[in-house]
Amino acid sequence: MKLYTNQDINTLGKTIPPCSGIFAIIDNKVEDYFSAMKNWKIFPLHASESSKNLATAARICSWLMENKADRDCFIIGAGGGVTTDITGFVASTYKRGVRFGLVPTTLLASADAALGGKNGINHLGIKNMIGTITQPEWVFQSPAFFKTLSRRIFREGIAEVLKTFFIFSPDLYGFAVSFFSGYDHRNPSKKEERILERIIKECARLKMEIVRKDEKDRGERMVLNLGHTFGHALENWASENRKNILHGEAVAAGIVLSAKVCAALDLCPKNLAGELAEDFKAVGLPSSFGVRVSQIFKAIEQDKKASSDTVTLILPIEPGNVVRYIIPAGELKKLCSRLII
Ligand code: GLY
Repeated sequence: MKLYTNQDINTLGKTIPPCSGIFAIIDNKVEDYFSAMKNWKIFPLHASESSKNLATAARICSWLMENKADRDCFIIGAGGGVTTDITGFVASTYKRGVRFGLVPTTLLASADAALGGKNGINHLGIKNMIGTITQPEWVFQSPAFFKTLSRRIFREGIAEVLKTFFIFSPDLYGFAVSFFSGYDHRNPSKKEERILERIIKECARLKMEIVRKDEKDRGERMVLNLGHTFGHALENWASENRKNILHGEAVAAGIVLSAKVCAALDLCPKNLAGELAEDFKAVGLPSSFGVRVSQIFKAIEQDKKASSDTVTLILPIEPGNVVRYIIPAGELKKLCSRLII
């Protein structure tokens, strides 16, 4: 996978290999950016977590067939995490797999979702239940897109940046917390723009280093799931209960809950959860939605990291140090009975 960082959108055409046709699945919120791409066939996607499903994937496949996309075509996905996930899923299954490239247009997709080849779609109310791990040919990052984002959508991406830095680097974690505390993504100074570019580049480098070691997510890569088992369960609960919780917000709350569980197991200092909550507050992220963990426990057990009677958690010890911890589901349930997320 080739990573183009901090690119000018006008250079995108040069990244596309010789192919029989270019088919682009583009979040309709950013469609205007691609109006100069006259030789692309475009599928405008109303991207939302609730449309990241088999029905949408089937609609895109039908569109590809109607437009005679063959095995030598090239598929592009441009948008946030929902768009890059569904594009990767379609491209890696259509005609048993065609080449594809991703243009993440949110901070969340640039820092995490578009990197590493995970292409999941939701099924029967469970996040990313069906999917593939297939790498795109390239990921094309351009922070110029971020100015289109609302404050809330931009900020949810900060959760994935802080997650990656917490796992790998105490220095970068501390630096990013203070940088994002005073950052206005719609009105950045030149210096701030350069710093953000470096943050994204470093985040991508750290993530891809571990993906290269364990692409299929069977070992080392699992640390990247910090906050995700609880976060995904919260998202599943939110979609069942018509609550509006974004993925990054759920991850932030999931990380704080992981620290509470970790403290209850005597594996980290008691004040870590509070410190993390303070950090998230400083960058404009929530750290709890007031939901009892017992309400989301069924979804925790259905997470992909759970086997029949154990759950694999990634627990934060301190910045730069997380551990993989396998816990019997019954024990986790007891431990969480009084906790909230
Ligand atoms: N988002 C976690 C991973 O890509 O492994």
